[in-house]
Amino acid sequence: MRLVLVGPPGAGKGTQAVHLAEHFAIPHISTGDIFRANIKGATDLGLLAKSYMDKGELVPDSVTNDMVKDRLNQEDVANGFLLDGYPRNTFQAEVLRAILAEKETPLDAVLELSLDDAVIVERLSGRRTCKDCQTSYHIAFGKSAVEGKCDKCGGELYQRADDSVEVIQNRLSVYAEQTKPIIAFYRGEGLLISIPAEGEVSEITDRAIGALSAAVS
Ligand code: AP5
Ligand code: MG
Repeated sequence: MRLVLVGPPGAGKGTQAVHLAEHFAIPHISTGDIFRANIKGATDLGLLAKSYMDKGELVPDSVTNDMVKDRLNQEDVANGFLLDGYPRNTFQAEVLRAILAEKETPLDAVLELSLDDAVIVERLSGRRTCKDCQTSYHIAFGKSAVEGKCDKCGGELYQRADDSVEVIQNRLSVYAEQTKPIIAFYRGEGLLISIPAEGEVSEITDRAIGALSAAVS
């Protein structure tokens, strides 16, 4: 299964990706998580990415495309992958198509999670993220068992710098202007599956697995 997960910031891509990756036994590749791991490690890539991410702007394509190409050449993606947060504009979608064409491993499906802006702001402004494994929690909808600590690895929870109300608004604009066009691109390729991202996390996972299994069987 070779999948792309697309949807506005806060739609629940990261939350659902964990469950979908487990169900289909494929690696979860989140470009946002890779950039944040580089920021934590104070690498050159991290320093560069931070200057864009803190404002809610996209990291330049040249950097992002090379990073994804390297990741897709690693051994664990031989049986599939779930891309979360990439591609994020039409050029990235074209580059991804070329990378996969060269390997003769085209995408099976692109799953769109759709959600209203008001719910997005509520979800993002209450999000807490694990510093170590990047699992997402929510102060009202998905608390960790021990406040401030990750259930999975015990890491410290923090609020992402780009989860302030002003930066969320810019991320929504960037999504509408730069990312939304890829929905039409993938619809044109016959790969798009759209599901509503409202409801309980487990309900949405079941909806996604049902839609994906029906589409690729
Ligand atoms: P990235 O990390 O990809 O952020 P994003 O797209 O803005 O999406 P989020 O991670 O904020 O939301 P999500 O959909 O994963 O939601 P989550 O599951 O956490 O990118 C960050 C930045 O990196 C970009 O702005 C850009 O600068 C850069 N970048 C990344 N990729 C790039 C690329 N390809 N090109 C260029 N730049 C790139 O859920 C959100 C909250 O809601 C959580 O608190 C969660 O607990 C809660 N929640 C989830 N589901 C539910 C539910 N069903 N009910 C109630 N609450 C829920
Ligand atoms: Mg995410």
